[in-house]
Amino acid sequence: MTRLGETAVLEVEDLCVELSIGGRWVRALNNVSLSVRPGEALGLVGESGSGKSLTALAVAGLLPENARVVAGSIRLKGEAVLGRSEAELNRLRGRALAFIFQNPTSYLNPLLTVGVQIAEVFEVSPELLASEDGGRLRGGERRKLAWRRVVEHLRLVHIPDPERVARQYPFELSGGMQQRVVIAMALIRRPSLVIADEITTALDVTVQAQILRLLAELRASIGMTLLLITHDMGIVAQLADRVAVMYSGSVVETSDVASLFAAARHPYAKALLEAVPRIDGNETTLRAIPGAIPAITNPPPGCRFHLRCPRVFGPCAGTVPPAVALGEQHSVACHLYRDGPA
Ligand SMILES: Nc1ncnc2c1ncn2[C@@H]1O[C@H](COP(=O)(O)OP(=O)(O)OP(=O)(O)O)[C@@H](O)[C@H]1O
Ligand SMILES: [Mg+2]
Repeated sequence: MTRLGETAVLEVEDLCVELSIGGRWVRALNNVSLSVRPGEALGLVGESGSGKSLTALAVAGLLPENARVVAGSIRLKGEAVLGRSEAELNRLRGRALAFIFQNPTSYLNPLLTVGVQIAEVFEVSPELLASEDGGRLRGGERRKLAWRRVVEHLRLVHIPDPERVARQYPFELSGGMQQRVVIAMALIRRPSLVIADEITTALDVTVQAQILRLLAELRASIGMTLLLITHDMGIVAQLADRVAVMYSGSVVETSDVASLFAAARHPYAKALLEAVPRIDGNETTLRAIPGAIPAITNPPPGCRFHLRCPRVFGPCAGTVPPAVALGEQHSVACHLYRDGPA
């Protein structure tokens, strides 16, 4: 599905972000680099607090008030995100990006029916209908066309009886249906990149599986390009082509999914994979990673994983390991590999 050589939809290079916490600036993201090519799904995975959401918010130009970018670059469809005015950012976001968050209720207006709020996208961006109406339709005819597009999109995300659901209010729908509505709304602009931040975490397991199947299908049917944020390696295995593993504000390993699952190199990536619940006969085993992710206000020196690392040795406590390329699609930031593939 990935077309090598094409311009990346998203390119993040050496991104460093600081947060103001308790009156001082602390480093939250360290030299984060990643890229997503057209049609690809990149899984961004790591424990809670590893910096996944901050990375995504930086990409969308939506960092919190107390954050500042201190180094690096972000390009969306080749255009720089950093250093833009709010108006320019809005335009770029509108064309290039859709962001889907964990909790659909906070992004749906409880006072409007589902159909009316999706149709609002066409009020804000009338050009989205222009390809069909040639800019000729007015008033009622235009509204009818917009409504048809809304129903089509509800159908695209497999909402049963979309004509009826379009006339319902969000509170009348289950969490899974609400998340489908949010996905439909996100797709109506045909964004170049969809960022999905833990979008199934709040759903029960069966609904989660349905939404994951839907995302996989949308990748195939409309060529959706995805930055998929999750703490769950199982979701990465199911949906992503490549994966970037984050730990304490840094990307520690980047790989195609098959190679990572076959032979993860970074001890943290290995540990994460071992923490995936497995069904062995009748037994479900879960090997948690001992210890906790360090507080960003007081990180250890050197490799931030070294205090939890089973392979810790000489340089780990003193020097931050640089990313080393192990192959065209594979890199790892760990002293074990500083001389190349081990
Ligand atoms: N606005 C903020 N002010 C202070 N600290 C913050 C802020 N936003 C994030 N952080 C801290 O920055 C670190 C990275 O947060 P981030 O939300 O990116 O983690 P995450 O990987 O998305 O975790 P989760 O899986 O829990 O969503 C965490 O230590 C978090 O507490
Ligand atoms: Mg998060």
